[in-house]
Amino acid sequence: MTKIVYVEFGGNRREIDVPDGLTVMEGGRDNGVEGILADCGGACACSTCHCYVDEAWVDKLPPIEPMEQDMLDFAWEPDPRRSRLTCQIKVRPELEGMIVYVPEKQI
Ligand code: FES
Repeated sequence: MTKIVYVEFGGNRREIDVPDGLTVMEGGRDNGVEGILADCGGACACSTCHCYVDEAWVDKLPPIEPMEQDMLDFAWEPDPRRSRLTCQIKVRPELEGMIVYVPEKQI
């Protein structure tokens, strides 16, 4: 289990222990984090699992693959540095305490 901190739009902070090997999207969706819709179920085909990764964690994540980048272009107000699709981030112990911010809306 690795603790991931989800900050919902509006500031509600949810600290969730997510099983390693699941994705950040699955950890949020399965625990009812508001605003993680994940319409495609994690297939990198929608962008409704978009979140902003806290600046301190950006460089600890694997690089963005071209397919993720393509979908991020359709996300709501993407930030070139901090935006990620949370279905593409696997939870692992090195991410203990990582903070992700849910955007105002998903499109
Ligand atoms: Fe659809 Fe992540 S759940 S892109």
